[in-house]
Amino acid sequence: MDWKSRQYCSDLIKLESQSQVHLCGFVDTIRDHGQVLFIHIRDVSGIIQMVFDPEKHPEIYKIAQTLRSEWVISIIGLLQKRSIENVNPNIPTGAYEVEVTELTILSQAKTPPFTITEKELAADESVSKTVDEDLRLSYRYLDLRRPSMQEKLIKRSKIIKTIRDYLETHQFHDVETPMLTKSTPEGARDYLVPSRVHDGKFYALPQSPQLFKQLLMVSGLERYFQIVKCFRDEDLRPNRQPEFTQMDLEASYIDEEFIYNLIEGLIKQLFKIEGQELPDTFPRMSYDEAMNLYGSENPDLRFEMPLVDVTEHLKNCNYKIFNSIANKNGLIKGMLLEGQADALSKNMLQNDLASKVIPSFGGKGMTWIKVVNDEFESNIVQFFTAEELAMLKTSLNAKDGDIMIFIADSNHQLVNDICGQFRVYIAERLGLIDTSKVCPVWITDFPLFEEKDNRLHSIHHPFTRCKGDFPSNASKEELLKLKSLAYDLVINGQEVGGGSLRIFDSSDQQQVFDALGLTQEDINEKFGFFVEALTYGVPPHGGIALGIDRLVGMILNTQSIREVIAFPKNRMAYCPLSKAPSSVDSDQLQDLHIRSLTLISDQT
Ligand code: AMO
Repeated sequence: MDWKSRQYCSDLIKLESQSQVHLCGFVDTIRDHGQVLFIHIRDVSGIIQMVFDPEKHPEIYKIAQTLRSEWVISIIGLLQKRSIENVNPNIPTGAYEVEVTELTILSQAKTPPFTITEKELAADESVSKTVDEDLRLSYRYLDLRRPSMQEKLIKRSKIIKTIRDYLETHQFHDVETPMLTKSTPEGARDYLVPSRVHDGKFYALPQSPQLFKQLLMVSGLERYFQIVKCFRDEDLRPNRQPEFTQMDLEASYIDEEFIYNLIEGLIKQLFKIEGQELPDTFPRMSYDEAMNLYGSENPDLRFEMPLVDVTEHLKNCNYKIFNSIANKNGLIKGMLLEGQADALSKNMLQNDLASKVIPSFGGKGMTWIKVVNDEFESNIVQFFTAEELAMLKTSLNAKDGDIMIFIADSNHQLVNDICGQFRVYIAERLGLIDTSKVCPVWITDFPLFEEKDNRLHSIHHPFTRCKGDFPSNASKEELLKLKSLAYDLVINGQEVGGGSLRIFDSSDQQQVFDALGLTQEDINEKFGFFVEALTYGVPPHGGIALGIDRLVGMILNTQSIREVIAFPKNRMAYCPLSKAPSSVDSDQLQDLHIRSLTLISDQT
């Protein structure tokens, strides 16, 4: 076979009619019209129709009749223009077909477990679109034969190339950091790799290259980047994978503005690949503002619906729950569903939203008041004075036809959290989100620490620099008030990236470790090498990491990040294709000095 003469389906439209062509690819749709056989051939560039004519080439026609979907073939033929009435507008090559003069079967295929032909391209209504995702993942190599899936991977490759080119023109150097390493705290569990050579010892797969990229700054490399796999054993959500890809970078002698400018330039260029224009500069919002206005550190700004604190107006109301929460330092927040009074019945508001949806977000309940013909309608309206109702209406800027929603609790964070989840839920349910919009926002001024289980934890990671000086001998309350020099990039309600300026002084780093309650032994064991590096002269530095899977998914507008990953895990962190994770031989475990508790309990 002369592979060199082989051409791509999509290139044929550039050729003259009657040109001789050589194609290789998969058999796609087969249509037998009795007189002639029409078969689509599919390669990485697209598909084109082949014609097998029994009159002109009876021997080839006979072989063509044996062809089945997904066989791999090579053909030589003559390119021909189709008559106007036979043009297929669904494919770019739809005005052409190839009269086959030579046919070679390169490889036969079993009947695939699902149809690979795509309905849109074949213009064939019988082709089903919905295939169970686990089945698709079990045969991912077949799923990836679909042109729409290949397009996503090819675009991902283009996006990554654009990132590399952009960073290289900004003097960043691509440096690889170890995969077999020590734990880097990013808030998840580690994936551990047992060592055969070092009895009882484990490597950790990196949750991020955080410590190594900072060490590269200590080395004086000044600007580093890497497109890198990271591993986190955490509860899975639709936009999370146990192994995912980051665009990670770090730079010396910079401030936050450098990162904002650099990343805004990059993100604008990436969205432009798909023709999406983004604002020249991205808005910025403090963490407190995001929590107060949208109940989330990842606000979706494609729609308004801000939260309004109405606690003060309800301190004297006769509605007992509100009265007691308002007077015991609790929080009551309202939001407005504009023009939804007709769309949401009392039954829906009470028996679905208040009784089912809000409890699923961890809330006890929800209060609603409709504004209809200048009157207030609700099951609790009788507990409020006319002044109180007017005050609520003014605070929320409510008009006729709107619904006011209120959430109250003694726990402020819980109120914000429920309101934040409900805001997105109801906007999605009522179709209030303009999905053609892309709304980026920088979230800034995060607290440095948060309190969980009576201990302080870093909101980002312990290497984040504090805004202003770190106070000595600070109380827990004072520490919880500190802000950090960290920033997250949020687009359409999803955290796409996060980073910070870093501590570059070893005594400042020690103060943070102390605040986190780490003993000297812990510090030496976990980060001794890193803390020592901070004593050898450190350029001030900072950086950021973008989640590539999330970003690509967003640019390509996919439902899930699994669509833009060649071989993803399913929602259970399981790979239905390779069946990983799997058991291993007891010999292998013995080599690694590991005894399985499952095996031990089986034996007892
Ligand atoms: P962070 O933990 O915020 O920062 O991670 C950076 C970005 O990575 C993406 N991401 C994920 N994507 C898919 N699946 C996951 N399980 C997952 N976890 C995170 C998110 C996130 O914004 N070392 C710091 C960066 C720095 O400080 O420079 C870090 O890893 O889009």
